[in-house]
Amino acid sequence: MKSFKNNILVLFAHPALQNSRVNSQLINYVKDLKGVTFHDLYETYPDFYIDVKYEQNLLLKNDIIVFHHPLFWFSVPAILREWMDLVLQHMWAYGKTGMALQGKKLFNVITTGGRESMFQHDGYYGHTMIEFLTPIMQSAHVCGMEFLPPFVVHGTRNITQPEIKRYGDDYQKLILSLRDGRVDLEAARSHQRINSDLESIIKTI
Ligand SMILES: Cc1cc2nc3c(=O)[nH]c(=O)nc-3n(C[C@H](O)[C@H](O)[C@H](O)COP(=O)(O)O)c2cc1C
Repeated sequence: MKSFKNNILVLFAHPALQNSRVNSQLINYVKDLKGVTFHDLYETYPDFYIDVKYEQNLLLKNDIIVFHHPLFWFSVPAILREWMDLVLQHMWAYGKTGMALQGKKLFNVITTGGRESMFQHDGYYGHTMIEFLTPIMQSAHVCGMEFLPPFVVHGTRNITQPEIKRYGDDYQKLILSLRDGRVDLEAARSHQRINSDLESIIKTI
């Protein structure tokens, strides 16, 4: 029997966690929560030989899938792309009989070196974060999943320790609220970043 409204799977991808300042801390806010399965892809598959059946079974057991990673070349780290290529199989995840992921929800938790002002049409990178995530959003749609706006931590080079703690607290609050079905998803969809105004999307009961 399910004890929570939503089971959550965090697929974490960072190829050099020993050098990480931000993600190595953020993961501590969610990895031991009840109802949350934290799955470190680089740790599990140092040789990139992904166990497709195991990954598909994990997906089946969860309602909300989180891609947690640093932004690398405006995309996901290589193992997460490999995971998508192998695990999201035709006739399983998409195609005529590919119904396994229908109705599940997907969003990214992303850290970026670039500051928020760079991710604007008139900014240095010329595109918004949601625009950079178009391939993942469209892949989610093809698999019948609902794509939610990302939780983003910008400007990791200059981020202070108290700021990292605040993002960690927000990450934990969001995951617990999603687990317990207390997030107003319609309100969440209206934001560019799911963490831009957490109070306005979390229902109090
Ligand atoms: C290979 C590589 C590619 C990167 N590409 C981007 C990028 O496209 N845009 C950006 O803002 N930051 C980029 N960065 C910066 C990382 O996103 C940043 O170092 C990371 O989010 C910091 O998190 P950490 O302290 O957990 O390592 C890149 C870093 C590396 C190593």
